[in-house]
Amino acid sequence: MFAHVDMQQQNRLIRRGVEHLIEFALGSDESAGELRRVAGTHGRQGLNVAPELYSLWVDTLMETVRMHDPEANDDVEAAWRVVLRGGIDLIVAGY
Ligand code: HEM
Repeated sequence: MFAHVDMQQQNRLIRRGVEHLIEFALGSDESAGELRRVAGTHGRQGLNVAPELYSLWVDTLMETVRMHDPEANDDVEAAWRVVLRGGIDLIVAGY
């Protein structure tokens, strides 16, 4: 799905996306709105990102965390997964 995508720009989008997922978990209405918008662009009528791809996305992010955070461990990873889940459920619900 990323074959023809500008990965430098995607890098910035992912960073913003992760920020919104975290802020959503903290109760931000603005981030809820942004994630609803992403649900729209990623849904069947748009990019058509199948729901099962999100667990691959999270697993890959966890690999990245372990690569770059010297303090990463199973507890840190479990905490990340709890924080990300709600926002991703919201996006997948809009598929
Ligand atoms: C929670 C996870 C994700 C977030 C927050 C996210 C966020 C975004 C955002 C903000 C964009 C820019 C377009 C827009 O504003 O809608 C985008 C584009 C895109 N996303 Fe995601 N995304 C997520 C997961 C995924 C997954 C799992 C896939 C597929 C494996 C995917 C595939 C794409 C593709 C193909 C584009 C278009 C890039 C381009 O054509 O420039 N995304 N994503």
